Amino acid sequence: MTYQVILPAAGMGKRMGAGKNKLLLELNGMPVLIHTLRVFEEDEACSGIILAIHPQDEAVFKALLTRYNVTKVINLVPGGEERQHSIYNALKTVRSDGIILVHDAARPFIQKEQIHRLTKTAQETSAAIMGVPAKDTMKKIQNGVVVETVERSSLWAVQTPQAFRISLLRQAYEQAEKDSFLGTDDSSLVERLNHPVTMVEGNYDNIKLTTPEDLFFAEAILKKRGF
Ligand code: CTP
Ligand code: MG
Repeated sequence: MTYQVILPAAGMGKRMGAGKNKLLLELNGMPVLIHTLRVFEEDEACSGIILAIHPQDEAVFKALLTRYNVTKVINLVPGGEERQHSIYNALKTVRSDGIILVHDAARPFIQKEQIHRLTKTAQETSAAIMGVPAKDTMKKIQNGVVVETVERSSLWAVQTPQAFRISLLRQAYEQAEKDSFLGTDDSSLVERLNHPVTMVEGNYDNIKLTTPEDLFFAEAILKKRGF
């Protein structure tokens, strides 16, 4: 079963503090952006990639797509102020129905097996997200003081990819725009429609490269995988 994927790549990487888009940082001699793109390039079930990019990165990103022979990018769209705007710009270019995935370009360690399990669930339920059970004890804090220890067994850390029937995701984005709602992930927009979203258990190594120490974790993951 095939799917299309939106890869938001239009951030500034401020928390990484690299002085450029963190997706241009290299792991094993290859930019993070290409690591992520390759997973989808090499997955026969992926029928097309829509990449949201910052206009200032356009020339460099295009050169990388050519250099690494990435052929599945069917659309390059300008990103927006927030991640949600970047994804909406990408979603507006999608014409067909079927399943669409949204995956952070800054999560290069996603694997085909996880993508396929997620896509299969989305095919059955229209909305599925990937995550892992929380490992730490979670507490709610107000003004620096604990107000509650939250029952951990019901808490999951949410990742991407998140997969949806295209018509459902489009409806969710249209409603969010009408209500000026800004969410931190795509699922939250679908949840507002009261549509159930199924959690699919992923892997703890599907990290998002966010702050400089994540680069050390990234090196360790590559080593574990034999690179
Ligand atoms: N992203 C995007 N458009 C934005 C903001 C983010 O497409 N306006 C993308 C990023 O490129 C990244 C993903 O969304 O692949 C997750 O965002 P995040 O990890 O926050 O990346 P940045 O926004 O680049 O980092 P920071 O918040 O530290 O500036
Ligand atoms: Mg950000």
